[in-house]
Amino acid sequence: MFITLEGVDGAGKSSHLDWLADWFRVRGRSVRMTREPGGTPVGEKLREIVLHDPMHLETEALVMFAARREHLAQVIRPALAAGEVVISDRFTDASFAYQCGGRGLDPARLEVLEQWVHGDLQPDLTLLFDVPTEIAAARLANARAPDRFERERADFHARVRHAYLHRAERFPERIRVLDGSRTLDEVREQLAAILGART
Ligand code: TYD
Repeated sequence: MFITLEGVDGAGKSSHLDWLADWFRVRGRSVRMTREPGGTPVGEKLREIVLHDPMHLETEALVMFAARREHLAQVIRPALAAGEVVISDRFTDASFAYQCGGRGLDPARLEVLEQWVHGDLQPDLTLLFDVPTEIAAARLANARAPDRFERERADFHARVRHAYLHRAERFPERIRVLDGSRTLDEVREQLAAILGART
């Protein structure tokens, strides 16, 4: 089973990663936790570059997919083949949300890359943590040094959020939206209900 977590920066998805892994482990499943951009030695180097060095929008999209190609080859596909539950903190929906929604890249470009890099593989389940952008911004204000995406203005984050919600409408079977403005316990109840229905 391949599960991805998505949402605007500050939506709170990271707070639930360990809980999610434990949910599967107590049910006897072996879990592989990973993240994008990154997840491999090459991917983590690409992450450093793409999160901090200014670059052309299409370069940004290509770097995300270069890291993703490596991630699929080294981590995601082997782990799925071994029967593990793979939980990735972000995947291709983030490219549609940030590079297309946030920055204005034509989604047709990304669809070509998506087809190339993982035309035959989509997440089984995507958990989209949704919060109003003001709440996300307030949470980020207390966080560590912001990266290139986190430093973007409020309208960028609003477009990212909108693009995520648009994808959730387009793929309602795969993408489940959680109300990330609730308390941790309330979000976990939502998560448990979704997972219980799926597994
Ligand atoms: P994030 O996952 O939020 O990590 P952290 O919690 O450590 O900040 O950071 C990754 C950033 O990369 C996030 O702002 C979204 C961005 N991103 C894209 O723009 N496109 C992508 O395809 C992916 C995977 C991430």
